[in-house]
Amino acid sequence: MAEEKKWTVSQQELEQQAVFSEKVFAINQGFYQVHGRQRLAYVKSYGCQQNVSDGEKIKGILASMGYGFTEQKEQADLILYNTCAIRENAEDRVFGNVGALKHLKRRNPELLIGLCGCMMQQSHIAQRLKKSYPYVDLVFGTHVVHQLPENLYQTLTAHKRVFNIPDSDGVIVEDLPIRRDGSLKAWIPIMYGCNNFCTYCIVPYVRGRERSREPEKILKEVQTLIAQGYREITLLGQNVNSYGKGLQTPIDFAELLEKINALEGEFRIRFMTSHPKDATKKLIDTIARCEKVCNHIHLPVQSGSSHILKQMNRHYNREQYLELVNYAKQTIPNLSLTSDIIVGFPGETLQDFEDTISLIETVQYDSLFTFIYSKRVGTKAAEMEDPTTDEQKSERFQRLLAVQKEIGIERYQAYVGKTVRVLVEGAGKTGEDYMTGRTDNYIIVDFPADSSLLGQFVDVKITKALNWALLGEIVK
Ligand code: 5AD
Ligand code: SF4
Repeated sequence: MAEEKKWTVSQQELEQQAVFSEKVFAINQGFYQVHGRQRLAYVKSYGCQQNVSDGEKIKGILASMGYGFTEQKEQADLILYNTCAIRENAEDRVFGNVGALKHLKRRNPELLIGLCGCMMQQSHIAQRLKKSYPYVDLVFGTHVVHQLPENLYQTLTAHKRVFNIPDSDGVIVEDLPIRRDGSLKAWIPIMYGCNNFCTYCIVPYVRGRERSREPEKILKEVQTLIAQGYREITLLGQNVNSYGKGLQTPIDFAELLEKINALEGEFRIRFMTSHPKDATKKLIDTIARCEKVCNHIHLPVQSGSSHILKQMNRHYNREQYLELVNYAKQTIPNLSLTSDIIVGFPGETLQDFEDTISLIETVQYDSLFTFIYSKRVGTKAAEMEDPTTDEQKSERFQRLLAVQKEIGIERYQAYVGKTVRVLVEGAGKTGEDYMTGRTDNYIIVDFPADSSLLGQFVDVKITKALNWALLGEIVK
């Protein structure tokens, strides 16, 4: 059997969900007739873009069942938290927020409270919800988003709690309705899951095995979005560089980029995340050649110490990473690099940390996403000796921030006098008559303009660098 068939959900199951969707729609229509208003959902997604993208599908499914949306929990008939499991503080926040819903439920017993996303795929979390949060009505995992109609129908009609969290290698469900958060920038998953098992990371346990979408489906989605006026497409995957493995159509990520780049229209292409172990010279050459692909690579290094990288199971060492960066800098003009760094991985010595500092000084990233290591139940690193104190970790973290701040200031300063291309995205923070957007390499630029330019690409000459953005003027 072809690999890709393995991820398919049967037509019969999808048809079954369509029937439930109609049933919920009818129930919601009945509600409308009685109450003179639409049922409202409050949906909040935490974590990475992949999760936000799931949230957009969830909202799409809810809209097709007759739900409207609200930003006010107090007005909602359904509150749904789409959770993230990557670090402990993300989980703590969810428990805090769910705890705070108790009084809303008491005031309005008809309110439905649901939880979904990565956190739910961990059995100890689901158990805790079952036991200690009896007012949570609906819990579903990452592999059954498409079953939301059935689960919601059960919750609405049986007045029983629904827990639907199958353990699975994952599925690919095409053509689900999507309610996108923006009208200029769109995020498109090109693959799901992860096979890398970095020792600190929970993702492979909660999002299943790596699986790629058919290129035709992706191309069609991009084309539709461009026709709708979207100007920036971000291709998503835990490791986009291994896109295409297991597909019947032989294709890799570089070839996919090339195909998207060849589509008609004025738009730019971003992607994340690139795992350094799978970033090939072919990919870098492709980025350099494709004019719609932004000259920006988010290339998480995690640590500058080869010893820690080995403990993390990253499959590259410091030298290999630096070699890759060098090749990319030589090949892609005005390349911007960003990265993720974990401070305080179990067993990280002061020398290992110094190696991280020296690596970021060498690479000169435009910005960093920095994290203190968070122990995740079930991962390999959770079993490792971790003698470093929280205080030491926190000190290292602060130092890392300070070093990167200096680098960032210098990098931003270097833009003064240069002209950059910006997609006009919205009102600027600098003043009332300012608009804002991002450069090709992801830097925020504010400039005097009015909203008539929204959604257009403009050339801006940089006049000043702030810590968080550049200021400039449109070049006529
Ligand atoms: N602790 C801290 N940071 C983590 N990340 C992933 N797992 C953990 C963890 N257990 C970070 C990595 C990854 C980013 C998305 O989150 O840097 O690249
Ligand atoms: Fe986690 Fe590593 Fe997979 Fe990224 S590549 S999701 S860090 S296991």
